[in-house]
Amino acid sequence: MDSTLTTTLFQGSSTISNEVDTLFSFLIYSSIVFLCIVVFALIYFSLKYRHREGTEADTTLGVDHNLKLELVWSIIPTILVMIVFIWGFNVYLKMNVAPKDALEIKVTGQKWFWTFDYPEGANTVNELVAPVDKPVKLLMSSKDVIHSFFVPDFRIKMDVLPNRYTITWFEATKIGTYNLFCTEFCGTGHSEMIGKVRIVSEAEYNQWLESTTLLAGANVPPEELGAVLFSQKACKTCHSVAGKTLTGPHLNGIYGTEVDITGGSRILVDENYIRESLLDPQASIVAGFQPVMPTFQGILKDREIDALIAYIKSIK
Ligand code: CUA
Repeated sequence: MDSTLTTTLFQGSSTISNEVDTLFSFLIYSSIVFLCIVVFALIYFSLKYRHREGTEADTTLGVDHNLKLELVWSIIPTILVMIVFIWGFNVYLKMNVAPKDALEIKVTGQKWFWTFDYPEGANTVNELVAPVDKPVKLLMSSKDVIHSFFVPDFRIKMDVLPNRYTITWFEATKIGTYNLFCTEFCGTGHSEMIGKVRIVSEAEYNQWLESTTLLAGANVPPEELGAVLFSQKACKTCHSVAGKTLTGPHLNGIYGTEVDITGGSRILVDENYIRESLLDPQASIVAGFQPVMPTFQGILKDREIDALIAYIKSIK
C-alpha cells in the first residue's frame, strides 16, 4: 500500500506487514469518518434544538420510531463489521499458517532471555539471525512462565507458553537489525527481556552459521571467549561486572571469596561452584537472592563453560 495512506508511523519489513497496515489504516480511517459524522450531528442538533427564550421547558412531543433511520444505522455498521471480520480473518490465517518450505528455528523463552536453536545445531541467545526473502517458521515454547514474542517491524506477536508449542512465521523483506520484545509481564527482568532480529543475505547467513558453530572450537583465548559469551548468553542481564547488585550478585572480584549460602552454610567461589551455578543454579543460592536463575544445561558446551569461568576469574 502507498505509504502516504498508511497511518502507522514506520514502514514494516516483512511480507505480512503491508497487509496488517492496510487493514489497520482502514479501521483508523473509517473510525475517523464516523467520529466526524457523530460529532457533527451532535453539534448541529445541540444548536438547532437549543433552549430559546419564551418557549416552554418541556415541549418535546412523544418520539415515535423511524424505520428508515433504524435500518440505516443497523445495516451500514453490519456491513462494515463483516468487511473487517472477513478481511481480518484472511490476514490472520496468513499470519498463522507458515509456508511448507519455511526454515524452522526453535525459540525458547525463559526468565529473562530468548534462546534460538537452528536446524544446523547452532544456538544463539537474544539474537535471532535469519536470511532475507525466505520464510522463517518459529516453533516456540517457554521453560517457565508465559512470555510473548513481538517483533514490531514484522507485525508479528505470539505468546510463548510452557508445556506447549506455539507457532509464528515471517518473511523479512529488508536486510537490517530489528527489535524483539517480550510483551507478557514475566517477572522483575521482563523489561530487559529484549533481543534483536538480524536479517542478513542468504550467503551471509550460511557463512554466519558456519562461524558460530565453529566459535566454541575456535582458537580464541578462553577469557575473551568468556567475555563474548557473558554478553551473548545474556548473563549480563542479571549479573553486573561493575559491583552493582542486579537480580543476581555482581561477579567482579567474586572468584576466590567465600559467600553465604541460603540455608546458612558458606561456600568458596571456585571453578566447581561456578560450573554448578551454570548447570544447576538452584543447588546453592547466594544468601539474599531469589532462586530464579535458569539452567544453562544444553545451552553451553564444555569449552564455553571453561571460558566463562576464565572470564569470571579475570574480572576484578
Ligand atoms: Cu518474558 Cu516478559
